[in-house]
Amino acid sequence: MNNIISGFSKLSKEEKIKLVCQKLTNPSAVEQIVKSYWHRDDNTQKLLDEFSENTLSNYFFPFGVAPNFLINGKIYFVPMVIEESSVIAAAANAAKFWASRGGFHAQVISTKKVGQVHFIWNGDKQKLLHHYTELKFRFKDETQHITANMVKRGGGIIDIELVDMRHEIEDYYQLKATFETVDSMGANFINSCLEEFAQILKNFIATHSAFDESERDCKVIMSILSNYTPECLIKAWVECDLPQLGMFDDGDTPDSFTWKFERAIKIAQVDVNRAVTHNKGIFNGIDSVVLATGNDFRAVEACGHAFASRDGKYRSLTSFSRANNKFYYCLTIPMALGTVGGLTSLHPMAKFSLELLGNPSANELMMIAAIAGLANNFGAVTTLVTKGIQRGHMKMHLLNILNHFEASDEEKVKAIEYFKAEKVSFNSVRQLLQEIRENND
Ligand code: MEV
Repeated sequence: MNNIISGFSKLSKEEKIKLVCQKLTNPSAVEQIVKSYWHRDDNTQKLLDEFSENTLSNYFFPFGVAPNFLINGKIYFVPMVIEESSVIAAAANAAKFWASRGGFHAQVISTKKVGQVHFIWNGDKQKLLHHYTELKFRFKDETQHITANMVKRGGGIIDIELVDMRHEIEDYYQLKATFETVDSMGANFINSCLEEFAQILKNFIATHSAFDESERDCKVIMSILSNYTPECLIKAWVECDLPQLGMFDDGDTPDSFTWKFERAIKIAQVDVNRAVTHNKGIFNGIDSVVLATGNDFRAVEACGHAFASRDGKYRSLTSFSRANNKFYYCLTIPMALGTVGGLTSLHPMAKFSLELLGNPSANELMMIAAIAGLANNFGAVTTLVTKGIQRGHMKMHLLNILNHFEASDEEKVKAIEYFKAEKVSFNSVRQLLQEIRENND
């Protein structure tokens, strides 16, 4: 096992870079590139290094803003971190479109978060139930050292249920706890409470006189929050009278557009291939905001996709109605975001994002992220059912192609002008640059 390295994490950053690059074709050139992405300020770089393990450098993503987001009557610049060229443009277009039609609306329906202690026990369930009130009191009482601050902020433990899971796995039970974590995402708080519950549970069963010797062994398998938070739920929607929609690109009237839009949404509800892509478009917006504000996009994605499958079939997360000649389009999505704790105030750009949003509460941030998702999805579906995605998409992608061919600023200006009227493709850009370059020779 010659290739196995031990003690890598103990090497200095310089040593790690050297070791990683040594087998590449030009180690010193690559080392320089890797180091060129270090932050010029040593303290900031140290902070970034310490977010993770074995950090070599930084990986840049574009940080942009989408202006004109009118949400619940308030205007926002929405910060978005995303590498896909058309996402911010789509969000900004949808924001502008809806700003003159009453804006976006959002509501937090509930904010409960969940954590579980999974344990195996083959004692008498009735005895445990009989003494459960006492045990529950202990869970709350003996975790006050963890919960006191959260309670002061208006949060804490909501409830702790005993769930019998023996129909799934022999002797398997859960403590299913619900929490309110106010403005924090709450992962550390929840996990600390759960690990304490596990200890209290084990001690209770090991020492309480209600149980026989044969029942004293409670095996805790794990204690961890659940990223599935269907009761931390946001509703985000747009609505207007149908004629207010106005005319669309390629000549669609409000009525012909809505007819196609409604069917596009229905298709995403019944067909999994379309539903996944439809929801991906929603997460283009949501993830961008979640990343920009230093939140955990993996948690938000995992939760959203599980929620999309809640009735046993993966479906779209949006719904549409045109009752009373009104266009009504709604996204319902669970999401657990924080505006305090985690990276939110440590990462300088996350901190800036939150400032830009007026230092929102977690609830307000969840509504903004959901709206960004709805805006991106509305933009995508609108384009799909009208002029098609490729024209706009490739226009946005043009700069990436030009950069691929190392186009100069002057060549970019010429190409952008040329492709206003022409179809963008990799080959057509290559050809145009060739012509420009030949003419210059
Ligand atoms: C591309 O990132 C997202 C879309 O595919 C979403 C959709 O099809 O609804 C355009």
